[in-house]
Amino acid sequence: MSTERRLRLPGLAYGGDYNPEQWPEEVWAEDMRLMREAGVTMVSVGIFSWALLEPKEGAYDFSRMDKILGLLHDNGIAADLATPTAAPPAWFFKAYPEALPVDRDGRRLSYGSRQTFCPSSPAYRTAALRMAGALAERYADHPAVVMWHVHNEYGCHNAACYCDTSAAAFRSWLRAKYADSLDALNQAWGTTFWSQWYYDWDEILPPRVTGADSNPTHQLDWRRFCNDELLSLYVAERDVLRRAAPAVPATTNFMVNFSIEALDYWRWAPELDIVSNDHYLRADDPASEVDVALCGDLVRSMAGGPWLLMEHSTGAVNWQSVNRAKDPGEMRRNALAHVAHGADGIAYFQWRAAKAGSEQWHSAMLPHAGTDSQIWQDVVRLGADLRALAEVRGSTVAADVAIVWDWNARWALELPSQPSSALRFVDLVRSWYEPLWRAGVAVDFVLPDADLSSYRLVLAPSLYLIDDTGAANLTSFAEQGGTLAVGFHSGAVDENCHVRLGGYPGAFRDALGVRTDELFPLLPGETRPLTGQVPEGADATLWSERVRLTDAVAIASYADGPLAGVPAVTRNAHGTGTAWYLSTHPDPATLAALLDRVRDEAGVRPVLATRPDGVEAVRRRGPDADYLFLIDHSGNGTEVPAHGLELLTGKPVHGSVTVPAGGVAVVREER
Ligand code: GLA
Repeated sequence: MSTERRLRLPGLAYGGDYNPEQWPEEVWAEDMRLMREAGVTMVSVGIFSWALLEPKEGAYDFSRMDKILGLLHDNGIAADLATPTAAPPAWFFKAYPEALPVDRDGRRLSYGSRQTFCPSSPAYRTAALRMAGALAERYADHPAVVMWHVHNEYGCHNAACYCDTSAAAFRSWLRAKYADSLDALNQAWGTTFWSQWYYDWDEILPPRVTGADSNPTHQLDWRRFCNDELLSLYVAERDVLRRAAPAVPATTNFMVNFSIEALDYWRWAPELDIVSNDHYLRADDPASEVDVALCGDLVRSMAGGPWLLMEHSTGAVNWQSVNRAKDPGEMRRNALAHVAHGADGIAYFQWRAAKAGSEQWHSAMLPHAGTDSQIWQDVVRLGADLRALAEVRGSTVAADVAIVWDWNARWALELPSQPSSALRFVDLVRSWYEPLWRAGVAVDFVLPDADLSSYRLVLAPSLYLIDDTGAANLTSFAEQGGTLAVGFHSGAVDENCHVRLGGYPGAFRDALGVRTDELFPLLPGETRPLTGQVPEGADATLWSERVRLTDAVAIASYADGPLAGVPAVTRNAHGTGTAWYLSTHPDPATLAALLDRVRDEAGVRPVLATRPDGVEAVRRRGPDADYLFLIDHSGNGTEVPAHGLELLTGKPVHGSVTVPAGGVAVVREER
């Protein structure tokens, strides 16, 4: 986060997306009154207001926005003012139909929704920067404006466009990457395969639909290009805003738990003054509290400290097949868990539930039912909670464990030409993260080439693709005394997706002291028993390998099948440290037992020595005090040993604190 451009707001920010343009002006006064009642301190405005702000090309109407910002200011509510560029108006597409995106199948999409534009379109870029510039010029010095909300969720609906303009932009990107050498591109992409050799830059297309799988490196470079196109749009808007208002910080809302098309947010974070994220629960997630924690830790790691939760929901969303309401207390637990994992502000989509439009069935802070509702009571209570936690702002989490998270490895793992199509990066990482979360162990996320010197333990659950620098960094961490644990099918390919020859797991073979000569992915539902230093009934799932020991010792082996007697889990003394290899995906209990042992041996302690099941424990560290967050997900409530002041109730804690059933306690611990 930039040191110069900070959010000029005291305490923890509280609010949501505010779309008053969807309501008659009479409603706005009530909005102000109720925002004050709920303790709202900041709202995001104008996110989808382009059509109203610029009714005709180059002609602006700021009258409504003037009133809205004035009203907010009069009521002591700060504005996170958005550039409305995620939703170009209909007039724009009538004038520039070539800016509509084309999908992989070659269909040109239509307007009438949002984020339906080609990221490489010059017409779009010109129009977006002009709009952002006009907004910045008008409101740079407005006293309500404390932050710029650039665009909205870049790439949410248009992460890739396959039109001819995008094709030309892709070729320029490739020429820059390969220093104008087609030969270098042909080598990197391995185009001697299937007669794919390129003789002219103009022959290169986006990876449009083909009869059989298209080239993996081509697809990987395409992902990188798509990321960079959107990032360059963000940077261009940010620079326009910065020129007009040099002191106002800029953010754009990430979606770190998004699908395969996800952006490489490690590359985005340094471009933001304040990192923010949107997080939504999935109805089919049996333990969504784990996802909340994981995403919070990931965003905090990318931000290098506190961040803002820009959007989540008070209740149901509207975009899943069945949109589940939250359980009693779940909304409060979600919000305070985000704070526990480093959020310095909590916001929702959206303030007032819409009456019309395609999000009319999405929950909000003020529901259709009005203030006589459970959600409103919860919203008011959360406002009070956040005020009580104001002093937590700026504190962060210290972790001894780092998990490697690399979007390049994720993109590559999920390409169509793998030994098994069942591998999902996020699921694999989460399956390793979850036992640590359950044990109450603090975790950071890192890139493979990060400075690892402050960690005792580094986990690489899934690192299919790794470049030489990253591999050397991770293995030297172990060599110099750290503990490294690596999951199956890691180290397999280099940054160009070329297999590392000589046996798997390629880049990690020497450090792990093993050499695999053949992969044996398992069929869906197929398991293989494991034997050795693992719990009774331990099973291998998803994957297995014919591992041979070169230096390592076997901790567990495959008990039957084609690999009977072959090592499955290994441990190697590497330099002055230790390197573990899990050549399979053990069942959850076995994976938890193995990771318990790995972290125990690495000397990693949980946040609390003894902790009741089902209570999440996270500690934020401030300059003078620590803040122990205890969140009961079990529904039972309990007593937890602690000393200090419980901030939500204001009661002193001598020896133990009560965590109410389904509730939260936050103890300020003096140092
Ligand atoms: C996204 C968008 C919001 C809204 C919500 C609904 O996060 O940014 O505008 O559509 O989804 O969940």
